[in-house]
Amino acid sequence: MPAATLHGNVDSDRPLAALPHIPYRAGMIETCPMTTTALFCAESARRDQAALLANRFALPLLTRRPEEGYWLELGAERLELVTTGKHGAVYAEFVEGAARHRREQGGGRGQPVAKAVGLKGAKDLPRIVDATAGLGRDSFVLASLGCQVTMVERSPVAAALLFDALERAARVPETADIAARMQLVHANSADWLAQLGEADRPDVVFVDPMFPDTDKKSAAAKKDMQAFQQVIGDDMDSARLLAAAIAAAQVRVVVKRPRLGAAIEGIKPSAVLDGKSTRFDLYIIKALPAQHSAS
Ligand SMILES: C[S@@+](CC[C@H](N)C(=O)[O-])C[C@H]1O[C@@H](n2cnc3c(N)ncnc32)[C@H](O)[C@@H]1O
Repeated sequence: MPAATLHGNVDSDRPLAALPHIPYRAGMIETCPMTTTALFCAESARRDQAALLANRFALPLLTRRPEEGYWLELGAERLELVTTGKHGAVYAEFVEGAARHRREQGGGRGQPVAKAVGLKGAKDLPRIVDATAGLGRDSFVLASLGCQVTMVERSPVAAALLFDALERAARVPETADIAARMQLVHANSADWLAQLGEADRPDVVFVDPMFPDTDKKSAAAKKDMQAFQQVIGDDMDSARLLAAAIAAAQVRVVVKRPRLGAAIEGIKPSAVLDGKSTRFDLYIIKALPAQHSAS
């Protein structure tokens, strides 16, 4: 994949390829026009890591803990998105909690997300791009099932949280091999997918955008995610992302939606997989009219 220019507060003209090796082979760093969330670290032993995160994701580094708003805080254990308000801390997690449960008790290839990407009964595991990586929960499930997953995330906040979670998972024997199958790219997926060479085109592109939530039940269920939603905002450009995903995918694009949510505008799905609370809209490349797909 081509190297991109590193923007932010260091080395603005140096190509990423010339930088010292940092885990997870992040292919691109770009500055996205979003409200800036800053990073604070009170742990003197972790100040170097805080500086690395600030450089890598163009996050302003604070010397004092803010008195209001949202900020990223690097503690002794992990990086969290925190606030003084009512929302709880948000972090990406691949080792403990729900990730451990999914790893140990998950539904294997029979679970809906696995069926949606075409794992059930597949001989070869697909190469997947998760174009809306978020906190990496879907990517983690797919990587746990053996898939190589490239997580693309444009928000510097989410990308930094993912980077931290991947580093922690790589240090734990039970998750190290799963983390090794997950690669992080900090970029806008629509642009990143469009510049892929023929040999790098993934089999599957997975898309789970943040929609303005009209479904009250699902909004309540996502209470713990309110800080994340507040900082990242809705993804209003999903139609462009879907078009780029369809042009890049060799086999299918999978769009995750709340069960009763609207489909992404534009191209109609070729199949729909309904779950209890989630629906997957499938865009099977061979079944789409020729003008939409690259192959
Ligand atoms: C609903 S969250 C995804 C949650 C994720 N599936 C998970 O399992 O944690 C949507 C995420 O996609 C990211 N996103 C939306 N559009 C994007 C784009 N064009 N390129 C890269 N990231 C994008 C947002 O920044 C947000 O973090």
